Amino acid sequence: MAKNTFTLTDNRNGNSYEYNVIDGTRGPSVVDISTFYKDSGMFTYDPGYTSTASCDSKITFIDGENSELRYRGYDIGDLAGKKSFLDVCYLLMRGELPGKEASENFDLEIRHRSFLNEGLIRIFDALPDGAHPMATMGAATMALAAFYKDHLNLEDDKQFKIMRRRIVAKMPTIAAMAYRNSIGTPLIYPDVNRYFTENFLYMLRAYPGGTMKRLPDGTNEEIKQIEVDALDAIFTLHADHEQNASTTTVRNVGSTEAHPYVAISSGIAALWGSAHGGANEKVMDQLKMIGDIKNVPSFIAKAKDRNDPFRLMGFGHRVYKNRDPRAECLKGLQDQLKEALNLDSKLLDIAAAVEEAALNDDYFKDRGLYPNIDFYSGVILTALKIPVEMFTPIFVIGRTPGWIAQWSELKQDPKSKIARPRQLYTGN
Ligand code: CMC
Repeated sequence: MAKNTFTLTDNRNGNSYEYNVIDGTRGPSVVDISTFYKDSGMFTYDPGYTSTASCDSKITFIDGENSELRYRGYDIGDLAGKKSFLDVCYLLMRGELPGKEASENFDLEIRHRSFLNEGLIRIFDALPDGAHPMATMGAATMALAAFYKDHLNLEDDKQFKIMRRRIVAKMPTIAAMAYRNSIGTPLIYPDVNRYFTENFLYMLRAYPGGTMKRLPDGTNEEIKQIEVDALDAIFTLHADHEQNASTTTVRNVGSTEAHPYVAISSGIAALWGSAHGGANEKVMDQLKMIGDIKNVPSFIAKAKDRNDPFRLMGFGHRVYKNRDPRAECLKGLQDQLKEALNLDSKLLDIAAAVEEAALNDDYFKDRGLYPNIDFYSGVILTALKIPVEMFTPIFVIGRTPGWIAQWSELKQDPKSKIARPRQLYTGN
């Protein structure tokens, strides 16, 4: 069968160059231009990689026009709230959902790996009260490479497996300890009797010794199953998103042969920015700043002003030019939780007014700007009593299995090379 090819012609001299077109299972095909520089002496130019496929991958598929997101072939709507987050971690890292026994063993192993080395815990003391938990998380995750040196031989399958599970297990502990340190309260150790997501809420909320808050009726506060389920679904919705900025960072750092914990720490750094995972914290700031429905039109006008750098946080996406399916799942979750968790109705009303105003405005319609995942997560996280500075750390906990799955795929890809783009030099 004839190969599909793509021809580029240099109109300056009439030279033509022919490249193979490669088809994936779904989604746009790619033109393999890897020999273009050798052939023509020129580079391709694509700032922000808007037309570049940097790798091939079997992990996550997005159809941005049709609002579709799949992990290993499974639609996100069939995973979030329907499978446990740990089963989804297993799916991303291993390629298939676990059976009952594998699921139980994985859960047990993650519980037992959730503790941090005592020396690593001292890192938290070195960072000041008020430190943003994302700064502390980046440092502590980088330091994992210093404390867990016994599993650095990645040629060894067993070590590789332990390393992947360790990072997933420890991330909630790192996040909770980073938060507690930032507010100067004693750190709470993991409780192996609790499932991953419940354990994270416990480490955020408990008093030393495991006591929970005393309520006016004389009982102790309990972590409600509905809270655990909601946060578990939120983790799943964040678990992977193909070659986004932080995942590309993890792959780039991984391509230099740096240690995986270091690569994940770089992913945390990339995720913190407000154009990426840091947007969830900014959405909540903006909703509070709007303060009242009557102020919505002036905020929308500010976001549309081309001379004002202000952007409506939680709107727009590089890939989704239609509804973000993650946001749709969260909206459904929000409706379910409205009464059970006493969601802040004033914030909900402001959010609904912002959404309605933007979706009916030509500026947003023409540019395909819809609410993204970060627009809806904040109101739910607030109802779960999650402090706003922990919104992006929650994104980190959710995204960790995706990063590690993508890093593993890179390591197993015989075509992978050190990431080293070139430039168009315009200096003196
Ligand atoms: N508010 C106002 N205008 C916007 C917004 C927004 N939130 N997002 C994009 N635009 C405009 C932008 O000004 C540009 O207009 P024009 O064509 O007139 O120059 C047009 O829409 C295209 O924007 P872009 O910056 O070229 O698009 P991008 O694909 O490079 O950026 C984005 C995507 C997510 C960084 C951007 O939409 C944005 O900054 N959104 C706000 C931050 C946010 O919510 N981020 C979370 C993304 S979802 C979580 C995750 O996966 O990271």
